[in-house]
Amino acid sequence: MKNTTSRQIPKQQIAHQLEYIEQVSRRNALLPEQQWFFCQTFGCQQNEADTERIAGMLRDMGYQRTEDYTKANVIVVNTCAVREHAEKRVFGMMGKYTHLKDSRDDLVICMCGCMVQQEHITEKIKKSYPRVDIVFGTHMQWRFPELLLHRLSGSKRIFEISGDSKGEIAEGLPVQRGEGCHAWLSIMYGCNNFCTYCIVPYVRGRERSRQPEDIEAELRCLVEEGYKDITLLGQNVNSYGKDLGIGMDFSDLLARLDAVPGEYRLRFMTSHPKDASEKLFRTMAEGTHISHQLHLPFQSGSNEILKRMNRGYTKEAYLSLLAAAKTYMPDLVLSSDIIVGFPGETEEDFQGTLDVVRQGQYDQLFTFLYSKRSGTPAAEMPDAATQEEKQDRFNRLLAAQEEINQVRQDAYQDRELSVLIDGLSNGKDDSEFTHCGRTDGGLLVLVSGEDLHVGDFVDVVITKTSLRALYGRAVRKGYHG
Ligand code: SAH
Ligand code: SF4
Ligand code: F3S
Repeated sequence: MKNTTSRQIPKQQIAHQLEYIEQVSRRNALLPEQQWFFCQTFGCQQNEADTERIAGMLRDMGYQRTEDYTKANVIVVNTCAVREHAEKRVFGMMGKYTHLKDSRDDLVICMCGCMVQQEHITEKIKKSYPRVDIVFGTHMQWRFPELLLHRLSGSKRIFEISGDSKGEIAEGLPVQRGEGCHAWLSIMYGCNNFCTYCIVPYVRGRERSRQPEDIEAELRCLVEEGYKDITLLGQNVNSYGKDLGIGMDFSDLLARLDAVPGEYRLRFMTSHPKDASEKLFRTMAEGTHISHQLHLPFQSGSNEILKRMNRGYTKEAYLSLLAAAKTYMPDLVLSSDIIVGFPGETEEDFQGTLDVVRQGQYDQLFTFLYSKRSGTPAAEMPDAATQEEKQDRFNRLLAAQEEINQVRQDAYQDRELSVLIDGLSNGKDDSEFTHCGRTDGGLLVLVSGEDLHVGDFVDVVITKTSLRALYGRAVRKGYHG
């Protein structure tokens, strides 16, 4: 059955929010001084994209962005709940922000994002952080203008968390993107996978896909505005379209977006192995704009642990998926996420993980020590390994990957790669390399050459490599589709 609009917030409700933006903007215009906002973002790319939407609303309300929080009239802290460490860091910062209120009565402090979506956290904020003015969950973000206006008009502290537990999609609200030529483009929200260690499905709600025409329209705008490096975002992009019932999957969407003309690259993340397919790899290989870059988290190389994680694939299935991807794209740049120390992980299980790392030959790994998240099934699972054992496995994993990385980086020596210049290098490296950029596969390159500008596509000959970056000389300009 076609289900085109039921998950979209009605246009009229969006129009109300735009009206609230207008009202705050009129208030701010009457004030004698410029009003400022400061945002701090924890967590993943989804949160960064959310902050850009919140920043867009604030900009249209007449606030200007500052990186100096002491100057701000509105502070927004966008939080992450994925590991305990992330939550501790947020609370570590809050004291600093709320302290400012000693001398600044007018300051409005907001907390939003995944962490505040949990009840025990909102309780803690209510009790222990009385100077936080507005707390809004991930499903309530689109109502931020209304919440801010209420607070500015003298309402009590605001806690708006629950919303539609299935989550809804808001189209037509403003965005303020970061500087440079990179842009995030959300294609879907939420997650249905319920990996047993993970809090994300609880705090982000069920999977919901944006309509393909809305995504395509946003991509066309981005290309027109000059963005050249565009990352499609979703917790599991390979599930795209399942909820739309229009017979379109992620590969179909990718092919449709790839047809948008222009000089740009398309990347995407994250892909879940259980839904990745040869069709996807073929689409990537045949595309004009699609980067040969794949982030395909495997989490563990033990079938027993994968089962207990509820990941829905085996080590063997994962490895054959990788082999297929590399057959379609011999130049593929590959990365993955791994959890070390999942409850019940034995040394033998860990050896399975090392085995996948060695066979996979990744360009980059994101490795995490398991962190217990209350409310998830894994939090109740028995765990015999000590923290020392887990840390020791973690260190061995890093050492194994470092060796692989070095070999992979060295293999680029003397090769010619297409690089998109996306900034100035920070100057700590050899001064000859004035600019930095990314290859088609997303590798960091420090570039030397004449007349280089952010947004240029250049062909670079690699003259030097390190674990962190490639170094090279620009030999000509030009975009290759
Ligand atoms: N949706 C993405 C990843 C989201 S979270 C995916 O499934 O690939 C990013 C990474 O954080 C995960 O891939 C996982 O490796 C890690 N992670 C999630 N929950 C964790 C936990 N409780 N402890 C440690 N790492 C965790
Ligand atoms: Fe978490 Fe698994 Fe969903 Fe990724 S796929 S967000 S790890 S539940
Ligand atoms: Fe964190 Fe939420 Fe992302 S929990 S990792 S910010 S989806």
